[in-house]
Amino acid sequence: MLDIRNASFSYTDWEDEEDTLHTSRVLHQVTASIAANEFVALLGRNGSGKSSFTRLLNGIELPSEGTVQVEGRFTHDSPSLPLIRRAVQIVFQNPENQQVGMTVGEDIAFGLSNIGYPQQQMQERIAWAIDLVGLDADEDRPVTRLSGGEKQKLALASVLALSPKYLILDEATSMLDPLARKQFVATLHEARKRHPFALIYITHHLEEVLEADRWVLFREGRIHLDGPPAQFLNNEALLAECGLELPYYHALALALQAKGVSVPASLGIEELRDLLCRFN
Ligand SMILES: Nc1ncnc2c1ncn2[C@@H]1O[C@H](COP(=O)(O)OP(=O)(O)OP(=O)(O)O)[C@@H](O)[C@H]1O
Ligand SMILES: [Mg+2]
Repeated sequence: MLDIRNASFSYTDWEDEEDTLHTSRVLHQVTASIAANEFVALLGRNGSGKSSFTRLLNGIELPSEGTVQVEGRFTHDSPSLPLIRRAVQIVFQNPENQQVGMTVGEDIAFGLSNIGYPQQQMQERIAWAIDLVGLDADEDRPVTRLSGGEKQKLALASVLALSPKYLILDEATSMLDPLARKQFVATLHEARKRHPFALIYITHHLEEVLEADRWVLFREGRIHLDGPPAQFLNNEALLAECGLELPYYHALALALQAKGVSVPASLGIEELRDLLCRFN
């Protein structure tokens, strides 16, 4: 369980001539919890605090007030940090910023060496991780000869090799084209089926997180709403205020409802097609 209690956080911005530090508070009294194996989407406008929040979760940053606990360990307890950082891994937007090896194998091996993974089991683990994400490249392939989608799969393989309990994806698909994005998301869910972990997924694309257990909406450094997707999907105005667009099918369903057509609460593509045919 990740347990965040009344956590506030400020960045130190600048020092004036009198050496006074000026800070800007970007998270205000945030309380949330994320259970093992849960799939939680973090949503909100640019600058609403999503990335800053995730930096608290693995102890890269510490809250200025309040606490963050990972499986019962506080992030402000520095002896706990190695275990916390192993349990909570992050994949960022740009795959090139997270690659450290020259080849696929070296890249995966780097994180494993850092946690003292037994040398004699390393090759097997690298092969396991490549297979888990369905990366179509052998371990000797230079990283420079991977496509953007493949580089992001490699970033995923490198963190999954470490068996995280909580995986944070911070707009990890935003540099991929729509096809690569779909493949990446499918890979991720396939990997979760084989080796469950909690997924904390930051995105501006709601269609990627329709299957999430919960959506957590950030607004100006606070959690504005935390609940199942259904609680958000009929609130187009709130989503629009937070810079989010309803997925196409949901927008269409709401438009039909506004015209007096009765639309079932849970609406898949098939149901919507039938409905439109009848409407015609
Ligand atoms: N390193 C930093 N130093 C100072 N301020 C920062 C830093 N990183 C982020 N901020 C500020 O903190 C606030 C929250 O930013 P954060 O990156 O957490 O938002 P976000 O919701 O992840 O946005 P986006 O959708 O654009 O990634 C913003 O006002 C931002 O300008
Ligand atoms: Mg961000």
